[in-house]
Amino acid sequence: MPPLLERLGVELPVVQAGMGGGLSRHELAAAVSEAGGLGTIAVNGAAAIGRELAAARVLTGRPLAVNVLLPFARRDWFEAAAAADAVVTFWGRPRRRTPGVWLHQCGSVEEAREARAAGADGVVVQGVEAGGHVRGTTPALELLERTRAALPADYPLLLAGGVAEPADVRAALEAGATAAVAGTRFLLSEESRAHALYKERLLAAEETLLTDLFGAAWPASHRVVPNAATAHWLGGVRPLLAPGRTKDERRVVLRAPSANRALNRLLAPGARYTPSSLQLRMMRAQRPGSRLLTPAGPTDDGPATLVDAGALYAGETVARIDAVRPAGDLVRELAG
Ligand SMILES: Cc1cc2nc3c(=O)[nH]c(=O)nc-3n(C[C@H](O)[C@H](O)[C@H](O)COP(=O)(O)O)c2cc1C
Repeated sequence: MPPLLERLGVELPVVQAGMGGGLSRHELAAAVSEAGGLGTIAVNGAAAIGRELAAARVLTGRPLAVNVLLPFARRDWFEAAAAADAVVTFWGRPRRRTPGVWLHQCGSVEEAREARAAGADGVVVQGVEAGGHVRGTTPALELLERTRAALPADYPLLLAGGVAEPADVRAALEAGATAAVAGTRFLLSEESRAHALYKERLLAAEETLLTDLFGAAWPASHRVVPNAATAHWLGGVRPLLAPGRTKDERRVVLRAPSANRALNRLLAPGARYTPSSLQLRMMRAQRPGSRLLTPAGPTDDGPATLVDAGALYAGETVARIDAVRPAGDLVRELAG
């Protein structure tokens, strides 16, 4: 058992990625942890973090993680997250904010080095095939290998991106990962809070694209399944996704029109101060043709209109997933 997992009390080398905006809440995190993996809660705001963590603790006595997105986090989010067994941060300058186990998700060797220097207990190396916001440009196994070569041999590295089946976990562990992290596979679980229509679209999907389209207040690249909004704004670049193209050609970022991007950049500095009531109003008003497209994904308690007007985050593994399953079964199966 790798020392990091032992320290956490996690039995199996399977981590469920935090999926933001409430896609992964207490039901999913608790089911994953209860089955022996590490479940992760990802919600916005200190009160929601505290509430979700408390609800998960009722369902399981096993360790739980909280994910914190640095562009949005305020000080009290970290105070609430500190009650988790591990805190996983993403997207920003790595800095220790909580006393317990801290992992930082990285998209490059440089970022992994920076996180280690800042005192991170380990890093998640995220490959370009990942779903949701994508930090780097390198495939996961390649980034793992390069990071392994650059950091001390015993430094914990977790691998995210491309993990949906037992063979993917085995490949990650054989390449030296402490654990494998899966997002999309757990999004398509019974316990995830993705909208039922979002899950349906993902089950039917064969293709993803990388874009910065849903970038209001967070002008960053993300991997999604195409929908009416991507057809509206990125229609002209569709040929880039044609089946004849190579994998690398299909991993380029399809940029939103420059006016959309300018607007997104303008809103970015205020991201962490946007009241949740305003965020909710923006989500409800959002249509496929809106120039301002928020990063919110469609949840089962949010507007169904986001299925066509919002980001259908998913990784490349979506093409290999054909059923919504109980999260506990997935953990046991992935761990082999
Ligand atoms: C729906 C969805 C939402 C995500 N949201 C977050 C997030 O809020 N914070 C974060 O650190 N990573 C987030 N990610 C990225 C994951 O941490 C992870 O890198 C990714 O899921 C791995 O690729 P996979 O989806 O192919 O398994 C998200 C991924 C997905 C699919």
